[in-house]
Amino acid sequence: MDIDIQALPPADQYRLLSSTVVPRPIALISTYSEETGHNTAPFSFFNVMGEAPPVMAIGLEDKRGSGALKDTTINIRATGEFVVHLVDEALAQAMNVCAIDFPSDICEATAAGLTLVPSSIVQPQRIAEAPVAFECRKIAMIEINPHRHITLGEVVRMHVREGLFDADLKYIDPEKYHPIGRMFGRLYTTTRGHFEMVVPEYDVWRERER
Ligand SMILES: Cc1cc2nc3c(=O)[nH]c(=O)nc-3n(C[C@H](O)[C@H](O)[C@H](O)COP(=O)(O)O)c2cc1C
Repeated sequence: MDIDIQALPPADQYRLLSSTVVPRPIALISTYSEETGHNTAPFSFFNVMGEAPPVMAIGLEDKRGSGALKDTTINIRATGEFVVHLVDEALAQAMNVCAIDFPSDICEATAAGLTLVPSSIVQPQRIAEAPVAFECRKIAMIEINPHRHITLGEVVRMHVREGLFDADLKYIDPEKYHPIGRMFGRLYTTTRGHFEMVVPEYDVWRERER
């Protein structure tokens, strides 16, 4: 099929894109507002974009129907600070509660039974139960259209749950870390079916192909 994707209504473009680019990691994002306090919500239009400095990217949509900006967007725009938490199997149910469209003055993390603790550098607090938290400062918020703000943030601090960080290899141990991924809509996947592949040297590959 040859799809003229930009000719489709936005909702259909969304369905095609979000069911194709899968699984997506989930960022559970905490922000802070002087007026309404702490806010937490999940975002799967999300990924890491590089290091030195470490950069995170998030696709913030507006509230479907009303067209109003989400609290996360409003707070990041106003304060320039946020905390990205990765969501693992243990955090999945609480993440789902945080996605509820609560009134702005209700703290989703508390409603979901999570514990907010002070961050090291930024004002928004971090979730103690999360396997990994990245304290971030906004680099840019790009308004792609009035409904979609792509946000880039620089990581200024990282927190890792005890036992996940391998100090020798300097990485998060994939045997102990079990993030979930978003498929489409209400479908999620685990990340337990690992397999290994090594990229061969060109000469080795050429010999094999002969
Ligand atoms: C797993 C999951 C992923 C989501 N990803 C996004 C996303 O990438 N962008 C977005 O705008 N909303 C996303 N949402 C919806 C928001 O989490 C939801 O609108 C939330 O209520 C926004 O809260 P806020 O107004 O407090 O920021 C997602 C929801 C779930 C459950």
